[in-house]
Amino acid sequence: MEEITDISGGYIEHDFVAEYYDYILPYADDIDYYINLAKQSGGPVLELATGTGRTIIPLAKAGIEIIGLDISSRMLNLCRKQIEKEKEVVRSRITLLERDMRDFNINRTFPLVTIPYSSFTYLTEVEDQLSCLESVNRHLEPGGTFFMTVFNESVQALEDTGAFKEFDITPEFTMPDGRKVYRRFCYVERDYTRQVEVKDSIFYVTHRNGKKERLVHRFSMRYFFSFELIHLFARAGLEVTGLYSDYNGTPHDAAIRDGMIIVTARKGN
Ligand SMILES: C[S@@+](CC[C@H](N)C(=O)[O-])C[C@H]1O[C@@H](n2cnc3c(N)ncnc32)[C@H](O)[C@@H]1O
Repeated sequence: MEEITDISGGYIEHDFVAEYYDYILPYADDIDYYINLAKQSGGPVLELATGTGRTIIPLAKAGIEIIGLDISSRMLNLCRKQIEKEKEVVRSRITLLERDMRDFNINRTFPLVTIPYSSFTYLTEVEDQLSCLESVNRHLEPGGTFFMTVFNESVQALEDTGAFKEFDITPEFTMPDGRKVYRRFCYVERDYTRQVEVKDSIFYVTHRNGKKERLVHRFSMRYFFSFELIHLFARAGLEVTGLYSDYNGTPHDAAIRDGMIIVTARKGN
């Protein structure tokens, strides 16, 4: 299987991956959920793999103090630019840290730690997953909550080889400088033993002067099964308190194609 050296999923290596992120992911279904979760916890919140600030900025606007941690300076720079557009009272609630979620120590504990939008799946190796969860556990207050989502790779999806041919994934968008971009997607490899998939996110770019580019972002992701997550969390001292398939609390169903596994956990005793 092809080894990918950038463990961030390409966010360190490729400028274009960070640059196009907010255009390919106008996703906001989870924001209200995170705001409610944060309010229930009382804050402050630690968010891992925070990216361009998709979730932390709305949380800060809702009055939550939040620390966002990410390994990619490219993503954090874009996040800073977004934060600069906010009022001082909102800006003052946000702290950004350039750190690796596989092992971090910020000498503070939190009532709530989160990893939104499947970012945990960039950790393809068990020792990295475990050390990330141990770091999470160290940063939780007694009784504190951990919340994350990972994508659900259903058995039907695992059987299907259709995704190994390029397919459309996001509508065309236009960058502020006039570049027109559309993205296609293609699975490259699937290792059923390691539970790792190599995928290509392919950007077709047409510049204003007519120049065309095909930019390929190749990355690896690890898919998980629910009992594996329960055992993995237990090894890190975290007790899984719920497994869901959506933000309405529908119980996890491994058969849902293109779905997700939402995991809630609390710090063990
Ligand atoms: C799919 S984006 C998610 C960004 C944001 N959480 C969101 O929901 O839009 C994945 C993010 O994970 C970050 N990331 C990947 N590996 C990481 C690691 N080991 N430590 C910290 N951040 C990491 C990437 O830099 C990228 O910003």
